[in-house]
Amino acid sequence: MAQAVLRTQVGIVGAGPAGLLLSHLLAREGVASVVVESRSRRHVEERIRAGVLEQQTVDLLDEAGIGARLRREGLVHHGIKLRFSGRTARIDFAALTPGRAVTVYGQHEVVKDLIAARLAAGGTIVFDAEATSVHGFDGDAPTITFSDGTQTRRIECDFIAGCDGFHGISRPSIDAGVLRIYERTYPFAWLGILAQAPPSSEELIYALHDDGFALLSMRSPQITRLYLQCAPDEDLGKWSDARIWDALHTRLEDTSGPRLNEGAILQKSVTPMRSFVAEPMRQGRLFLAGDAAHIVPPTGAKGMNLAVADIRLLACALVHWYASNDASALENYSDACLRRVWKAQRFSWWMTSLLHRFDADSAFDRRRQLAELDYIAGSRAAQTALAENYVGLPLDA
Ligand code: FAD
Ligand code: PHB
Repeated sequence: MAQAVLRTQVGIVGAGPAGLLLSHLLAREGVASVVVESRSRRHVEERIRAGVLEQQTVDLLDEAGIGARLRREGLVHHGIKLRFSGRTARIDFAALTPGRAVTVYGQHEVVKDLIAARLAAGGTIVFDAEATSVHGFDGDAPTITFSDGTQTRRIECDFIAGCDGFHGISRPSIDAGVLRIYERTYPFAWLGILAQAPPSSEELIYALHDDGFALLSMRSPQITRLYLQCAPDEDLGKWSDARIWDALHTRLEDTSGPRLNEGAILQKSVTPMRSFVAEPMRQGRLFLAGDAAHIVPPTGAKGMNLAVADIRLLACALVHWYASNDASALENYSDACLRRVWKAQRFSWWMTSLLHRFDADSAFDRRRQLAELDYIAGSRAAQTALAENYVGLPLDA
């Protein structure tokens, strides 16, 4: 019979990249944690989400000893392409930033690597266990209550890490009046597909077309990941495979480039677009990290990278507290994260504004977008600004 109360040092809600990485980094420094995750192991390992890792995300995963498969299977990209008005501009990361790159490696692969590492090291991840409340974080004895389907259990801990994503329970558990919310929703969403087809371009293509935005990305040399701008309440039932491919051909191809390779559609989904920040990322002994605290529209490929950057700071601050009973890094956690979060918010908003159709009737906005893309295509300074944000600003920027 399972024990009803678990005791640990750090209780972690959510086994996404943020929660799993925190548990892994803490364990390497001798700090114990328990992760509770509402979904099954299979579900989190198969959930298709982010695909682009900044250089420093890759370096951190490497330093943390979980980069071996990522180094073997990840696709290193030294540039991206912008397509507009029948033209293609290439942003050359290697030339514009000091030899930096991004790596295409699915978020679910990072999640698999982290779960394997935690379980191999004897770590505790309780799957199919929904946290129903977090308490006591304004004092020094926080608890997490969760249900594993058969019984209600409790974790007693020193700190709670709310890594439970945008729809989790941690952020809404913070007392009224503590958080200030900054938010923007966009009048469109992304229809995403995963296709059994070799990518028709070695590099990602971001396209602005009169019909709306499109993106070509990939997961492997055999699997293409593609997105189309669509309505926020888009009915997937109205998008036959043939309609999706037609729209992708129209928006992504130019006359000179290769045709998009078609293949079986393995997965289809609609992702809403939102910018969101909750400040501060903490109340007492409850710390928010990743999507629990902030959301960016995916156009800048920043979401998972921000979650990793938060966790790097949170893990260091907690380890420091256990080593020297000094809370200064924990006190500084929210401010330190938010400096970076707002820069990523700005970049994600800018990429989104540049590449989407906002208002079908605004000929002025369309001209302005095309002028900006033309400017980027011809200006090394503009390309450098894009490149340094895309590959990731330095961790202390
Ligand atoms: P999540 O991955 O959301 O993890 C939270 C976990 O908490 C989940 O497993 C959830 O099941 C669990 N949970 C929730 N509530 C509870 C509860 N009550 N009890 C227990 N568990 C709970 N980012 C990039 O960096 N690059 C990209 O290219 C990119 N592309 C994207 C494309 C799409 C289509 C989408 C949807 C997102 C993309 N992102 C991208 C964003 C990225 O996926 C997220 O920022 C990332 O998942 C954040 O990680 P997280 O661990 O904070 O949250
Ligand atoms: C992805 O491969 O899923 C992807 C790539 C770049 C983005 C967003 C998503 O900006």
